[in-house]
Amino acid sequence: MQLKNVLNLSVVGGALLASAHPGGGHHEEREALAQRSFKRSLSHGLQKCEAKLEASGLHARAEARRRALVDVHRRQLQTRGDTWEVLNKSHLSDRPVSPNTAETELFDDDSKICLLGPSAEGETGPYWIPGEHIRGNIRESEPGVPVIIEEQFIDVETCEPIRGIYNEIWSCNATGVYSGLVADGNGNPSDLANYQRTFLRGVQQTDEDGVVHYSTLFPGHYADRTTHYHNIVHWNATLLPNNTLAGGSIPHIGQIFWDQDMISKVESTYPYNTNSIPITLNEEDRVVNVETNNADTDPFLNYVYLGDSLEDGLFAWLTVAVNTSAIQYPYWTNVYTATGGESVCGTCDGDPDAVNGGLPTTTASA
Ligand SMILES: *[C@@H]1O[C@H](CO)[C@@H](O)[C@H](O)[C@H]1NC(C)=O
Ligand SMILES: *[C@@H]1O[C@H](CO)[C@@H](O)[C@H](O)[C@H]1NC(C)=O
Ligand SMILES: *[C@@H]1O[C@H](CO)[C@@H](O)[C@H](O)[C@H]1NC(C)=O
Ligand SMILES: *[C@@H]1O[C@H](CO)[C@@H](O)[C@H](O)[C@H]1NC(C)=O
Ligand SMILES: *[C@@H]1O[C@H](CO)[C@@H](O)[C@H](O)[C@H]1NC(C)=O
Repeated sequence: MQLKNVLNLSVVGGALLASAHPGGGHHEEREALAQRSFKRSLSHGLQKCEAKLEASGLHARAEARRRALVDVHRRQLQTRGDTWEVLNKSHLSDRPVSPNTAETELFDDDSKICLLGPSAEGETGPYWIPGEHIRGNIRESEPGVPVIIEEQFIDVETCEPIRGIYNEIWSCNATGVYSGLVADGNGNPSDLANYQRTFLRGVQQTDEDGVVHYSTLFPGHYADRTTHYHNIVHWNATLLPNNTLAGGSIPHIGQIFWDQDMISKVESTYPYNTNSIPITLNEEDRVVNVETNNADTDPFLNYVYLGDSLEDGLFAWLTVAVNTSAIQYPYWTNVYTATGGESVCGTCDGDPDAVNGGLPTTTASA
């Protein structure tokens, strides 16, 4: 029996929340309470899912699929080795565990759960760009450590894999810049060509097992945030002829993280190490706190090396529990259209609530 890996950051987290959003204290206290009670019920709900997932063969298929995928990518690297050995050995994590963490596991140790739901969600940030293309290979030509991500989506109400929904991820590149927008704090604010760039952004539809894959990059970092991916689930969206989505709702918003020791390894390599912005540790990160505080949540990727070295890349996976009847209200400041990216905001830098596509706003930051 493994201890679940849950960061114990309640003390640090409270202070960070208070300082990160001056003036928003009452709202956030209410949100925090709602999050805690929601997460408790979500966690109990998932325990009952475990037997069903096992019986349906979902775990067995997940193991076979991950093994096959790692094999494919390792063959491409022309390296040799026993995949099982790699998979078995490499669920390494030396994250701190709370003294109160129960020794229970919701799922196998190779499929830790990322538990997120209504108002328990990680922040969207202003840098979600609606209108991105449906594609799994989103690395384009960005340099850095290649990562294959597998996400598996489970419906928290039915315990079934969520088939046929669209999931979207985005992250910054190795030196902390997001494509598709121009803003202070996002690389060079006079690099207007960045509006047209789409690197490290993409949308995928889940298969029969509720699974999507992305070929992406180990992200770098920018000011005041640890390394992370953003993750959004679309519900009932319409696929347009130009391979983008319209309509539907958003039942899930979250952020996904890497172990600190892996971040440190990556950040010490080129070109990550050319970024002079100070690093924010996981344990200092506001969103890590929100997504792990007082609940059995684990939004950290499991991973294995694909080859002998970091440069060969990593295979990473995570199970995401979604309440499909929930509705989140992400906001955005930029969109991607037939003529490329554009700001729909103008002056909202510093006031991100200024634009949200007409939907109710949520507290958020990049
Ligand atoms: C890897 O783990 C599986 C499942 O626990 C086990 O059956 C297998 O023998 C292990 N393989 C190695 C090489 O340790
Ligand atoms: C990250 O993206 C920005 C904008 O395209 C670019 O200037 C920078 O060189 C990229 N970082 C790396 C390591 O290529
Ligand atoms: C799905 O979207 C369509 C068209 O946007 C809408 O008419 C329908 O009510 C939606 N269904 C659900 C279950 O949300
Ligand atoms: C899912 O969300 C709906 C609507 O917000 C809520 O009524 C229900 O209790 C949630 N289910 C779980 C398992 O949290
Ligand atoms: C895709 O089609 C929609 C609907 O016509 C349009 O609004 C959008 O700009 C198009 N996006 C791209 C990237 O071509």
